[in-house]
Amino acid sequence: MNTVTIHTLQSIKTNGSKFSVITAYDACFARQVEQAGIDVVLVGDSLGMVLQGHPSTLPVSIDDMAYHTQCVTRGCKIPMVVTDMPFGSYTTLEQTLSNAAFLIQSGAHMVKVEGGEWLLDSISALTERGIPVCAHLGLTPQSVNAFGGFKVQGRDPENARRILADALAIQQAGANLLVLECIPSNLATEITQTLDIPVIGIGAGPNTDAQVLVLHDLLGLSDHSPKFVRNFMEGNTSVLAALQSYDQAVKNGTFPGPEHCFK
Ligand code: KIV
Repeated sequence: MNTVTIHTLQSIKTNGSKFSVITAYDACFARQVEQAGIDVVLVGDSLGMVLQGHPSTLPVSIDDMAYHTQCVTRGCKIPMVVTDMPFGSYTTLEQTLSNAAFLIQSGAHMVKVEGGEWLLDSISALTERGIPVCAHLGLTPQSVNAFGGFKVQGRDPENARRILADALAIQQAGANLLVLECIPSNLATEITQTLDIPVIGIGAGPNTDAQVLVLHDLLGLSDHSPKFVRNFMEGNTSVLAALQSYDQAVKNGTFPGPEHCFK
């Protein structure tokens, strides 16, 4: 099996197929994810909530992200590994470049940053220096205090227009992938059809090019399960079988169903 690269993901979009993404934070689960045939591992700063027990992702440090990236890349070789830049690690250009380089040297193939227009210079600077970028729009958890909670974004026309404009601008700046989180399905569909780069959805409906879930949500281990989550342990007797079911459901378009989507 060939390693997954940005070219693999781009051709999956071009062919009209779908790819699967899941978070993982250690070598043990990364091995299972690889065996299940999942294309991309996201070392998400969600680890602050699911592993460290914080109420948000805000306390996670760049050292935490580097450590978990190293653990994940010891466990898998085929999936592409994308690592979140944590809150406060990409506020200035100089800081962004040095922290992104640290994550790439820790084994990440791409870094992920949350936000739109204010990040355009950073996205250009990173991609010009050979560091691929995944952007993240919609409900961006690092802005939870600004949003007043984990709330669906893009429901009003002005906010929806801004998310679409940000998506186009980040593609123009050189971003290679885009995550859309918790936005109405019709807005995610429009953005996916408008952009050339692959779009990964979470709570963004069935029509994005890929889906991502937090591993612990998919395995039914989280205290609180958002509407867009399906517990894939139901009907399966092993973690590997649950991950294989998720991979298949994303690729054959049966996940997410209408009950997982926002209007
Ligand atoms: O940190 C994370 O796990 C994420 C996903 C929810 C997209 O950003």
